[in-house]
Amino acid sequence: MMGNAFAEIPELMKAGTTAAQWEQVRRPELFGLFQEHVFGRNPVGRPEGLRFEALGEPVKMLDGKAIRKRVRIHYEGPGGKGQFDVSAFIPQSAKKVPAFLLVCFCPPEELFNPERDQDKSEHLRLPAEAFAARGYAVVAFSREDVTPDKKTGFTTPPHAIFTPNPEARTPTSWGTIAAWAWGASRVMDWIETEPLLDTQRVAMVGHSRCGKTALWCGANDPRIALTVSNNSGCGGAKLNRMDLPKSEHIAQITKNFSYWFCDNFMKYADNEDALPVDMHQLLALMAPRLVYVSSAEDDLWAGPEGEFESCKLASPAWALYGKKGLVGDAFPATGKPLHEGCIGYHIRSGKHDMTPYDWERFMDFADKHGWKQ
Ligand code: GCU
Repeated sequence: MMGNAFAEIPELMKAGTTAAQWEQVRRPELFGLFQEHVFGRNPVGRPEGLRFEALGEPVKMLDGKAIRKRVRIHYEGPGGKGQFDVSAFIPQSAKKVPAFLLVCFCPPEELFNPERDQDKSEHLRLPAEAFAARGYAVVAFSREDVTPDKKTGFTTPPHAIFTPNPEARTPTSWGTIAAWAWGASRVMDWIETEPLLDTQRVAMVGHSRCGKTALWCGANDPRIALTVSNNSGCGGAKLNRMDLPKSEHIAQITKNFSYWFCDNFMKYADNEDALPVDMHQLLALMAPRLVYVSSAEDDLWAGPEGEFESCKLASPAWALYGKKGLVGDAFPATGKPLHEGCIGYHIRSGKHDMTPYDWERFMDFADKHGWKQ
């Protein structure tokens, strides 16, 4: 697969496929292949005993332009009980507010802390003022609060609760990304109980490993109306079969982060052509809902061209519904987002990161597709 050309890309669907055939046959088949070969199968959906505990009273922020709520999500299963926390920043509005459901890197109590220092950590650079001005809520949780970012995470919740014996794991047992994505769906369960939020307009967002998580959550959970994957690279939006020598390949990601995926994924290290799917098919699982992919110019590890190509190749799935996927054939110039179709894409200057610039573009895209208040 070298030589800057594509190896043969698995077909999205057969010629003549209808929307009904896509939904009843091809989409379930592709979804099953991603479960079996990439992310693993979840042992549980919404668990028994799921409940939400308010942590204190809502706190006013930005001179009353918004509030912050904190919530603890509790669940239980055969192996015991688990919990994780959510921090919600909700602008004041007479109407229900659309929301970004963010899976992030830092502890949720640091997010939208009224005392926060915006310059201290890259993960605190959430442009709260812009969210308030533009009328978007952010409901965030930390992936490590759901399950740790290490192989030993399989001995802690939620793995230890729903797959109590780690020895009994099979090659298709859920990996860590699947558990993070499952956690995001539990946050969606809470959002459905929150009267201030618009449950029809929830965007799942993540950066990098969390961008991979956002895509798998969007594929699993039809309540996610817009899925945003920022700099998600290998195991995310980047096409595996495109030859981008400076980008991460399956051999590298499975060597360093095997536990993110199911064990079957290891078989495809230096063997991409044998993987029965590629990542344009993951994006297509979201059709006809909205998808957004963003890249950064200096982030060659994530392979911006491979992220863009996936968007192009996924687009016929939207055509089945009389909609447009990505509008724009040529790789766009830096700072010139493609927002016309149901798949949005931009590349910005700079390094691997999720910056206020990226957030503004996600909001532009949502505005353009009817989310503006
Ligand atoms: C590593 C890894 C990437 C991942 C990134 C991140 O660079 O190789 O696949 O996206 O970490 O999550 O920051």
